[in-house]
Amino acid sequence: MNILVVGGGGREHAVIQALRKSAKVETIYALPGNGGIAKDALCFPVKANDVAGITAFAREHQVDFAVVTPDDPLVLGCVDELEKLGIPCFGPEKKAAILEGSKVFSKQLMRKYGIPTAASETFSDAEAAKAYLASCRYPVVVKADGLALGKGALIVNNYAEAKDAVEQIMVKKVFGASGDRILVEQFLTGPEVSVLAFTDGTTVVPMVSSMDHKRAKDGDGGLNTGGMGTIAPNPCYTKEIAAECMEKIFLPTVRAMNAEGRTFRGCLYFGLMLTPDGPKVIEYNCRFGDPETQVVLPLLKSDLLEIMLAVREGRLSEVPVEFSDGAACCVVLASEGYPEKYETGFELTLPRTKEGEYLYVAGAKQEGEKLFTAGGRVLGAAATADTLEEAVIRAYALAARVKFGNAYLRKDIGKRALAALGREFPVL
Ligand code: AMP
Ligand code: GLY
Repeated sequence: MNILVVGGGGREHAVIQALRKSAKVETIYALPGNGGIAKDALCFPVKANDVAGITAFAREHQVDFAVVTPDDPLVLGCVDELEKLGIPCFGPEKKAAILEGSKVFSKQLMRKYGIPTAASETFSDAEAAKAYLASCRYPVVVKADGLALGKGALIVNNYAEAKDAVEQIMVKKVFGASGDRILVEQFLTGPEVSVLAFTDGTTVVPMVSSMDHKRAKDGDGGLNTGGMGTIAPNPCYTKEIAAECMEKIFLPTVRAMNAEGRTFRGCLYFGLMLTPDGPKVIEYNCRFGDPETQVVLPLLKSDLLEIMLAVREGRLSEVPVEFSDGAACCVVLASEGYPEKYETGFELTLPRTKEGEYLYVAGAKQEGEKLFTAGGRVLGAAATADTLEEAVIRAYALAARVKFGNAYLRKDIGKRALAALGREFPVL
């Protein structure tokens, strides 16, 4: 089969490497892909949010199946447009992608169907929001309604910060129309867990759980980033909690979407917080997480393409979805200075990988035979092993063999997870 993957980051590289293992796959096209992905797929310079360009490409290249991975094209209706051409897709239609596209929508859905989440108020008027914030107990979380490159949630500690957040989002429109409405949300505490789940609208199959490390610096300091590393499975997510989430969150969400006439098919991402009152939804994403996918897919033993086809055809209950018992760790190598100012254009040298080691390139371009850095996050070095300690050691050893001029990485990916298990972080 000829497969089209829309997107060009580390997550897409992980999806492409997993798809390549399927016997059915002949050619993989990536739009736009990147210089590193070009080793594993044919990359063409069509942007991931250029829906017209993507459909034109698919029409010309006899694509048998498309995997739409990033949030923007999903929310823009890329799946709907490809399906209109008769190209079956993995990923939700536009009317289901709203689960990520509008936090106001998802909050209303959770309230209507009794799915546990933080209490919140919605505002479409800045003055009304400020008046409400004048009487709040702090901290609270101010969230832009729409997509905001993962930066739309601001934790504010007092009224002055809250007013500033409203000003930025609703008046200065730093996230554009995504800030036409905001949510003011109760601040929750507890360990965070990411759970990606395959669903065909009837069956829900959660993948192995994971833990992101969003802050730029060791010890969870510094600014929020797109993710500096991940581990799987997440030790805070016990079998009992998993069963509770299935009953109170996962199945109710899928059923609620059906009841609303918005059947969700694809990968549904549950961002959960394990609060003292039980697990609650922090956010939904309508797609694979980045960099969660970079630790989840290396642990998948089953054929990813077969699962994706089954999701599309409504027969997910009939295919095996098995994960190995081991652990995985992904360490992100970023350009020094990320997520603020950073330089690019450094030559990037990638080592050979051994069994159980993976390099997932996020920001690189190819010039002749050489690769050069081209983004804030350059790549993820991931590894699997029997234990989390070994996976951490292997991922860092792999990261050390990657060379580019201004490489920066956190040195504590997995430390929090090991602490939750009462275990020591290995000496690297
Ligand atoms: P979001 O964009 O909704 O995923 O939020 C980004 C991050 O902000 C989350 O991963 C949490 O760390 C934090 N966050 C979001 N909502 C809340 C909340 N209600 N209470 C505490 N932290 C939150
Ligand atoms: N890792 C969080 C996300 O993909 O949105």
